[in-house]
Amino acid sequence: MFKRLHHVGIAVRTLDEGAAKWGPEGIGLIEDGREDVHEAKTRVAMFPVGESRVELLEAMGPDTPVGKFLASRGPGIHHLCFEVDDIEAECERLRGLGVRLLYDAPRPGAHGSRVMFLHPKDTGGVLIELNEFAA
Ligand code: CO
Repeated sequence: MFKRLHHVGIAVRTLDEGAAKWGPEGIGLIEDGREDVHEAKTRVAMFPVGESRVELLEAMGPDTPVGKFLASRGPGIHHLCFEVDDIEAECERLRGLGVRLLYDAPRPGAHGSRVMFLHPKDTGGVLIELNEFAA
């Protein structure tokens, strides 16, 4: 099952623009670092909030998942991420429930994690990321 809500992903036009709103010059969260996630063609900046985080997402180009999201919907909430212990078992469980997964198998994510996304049409219009973190 899902262990906890790990982060909320927010699409931004640029990390600097997003950081100005979410960081110390904005509502006051503290940035914990940035990372290029080439597999997802995004740059991410993390802002811890207790046990959870806000993850800002900048597209590496217009023809990328976040680039297309920005073009159609503009900046805003992009996905919710739930941490899981065993991503293969979760994918199997969800497939068994008829939930469509966006990849055939988990893919590399930030910080050595492995990720899967659930089709928003099967989750009430919300893109959900599952993340199994490196031990
Ligand atoms: Co995420």
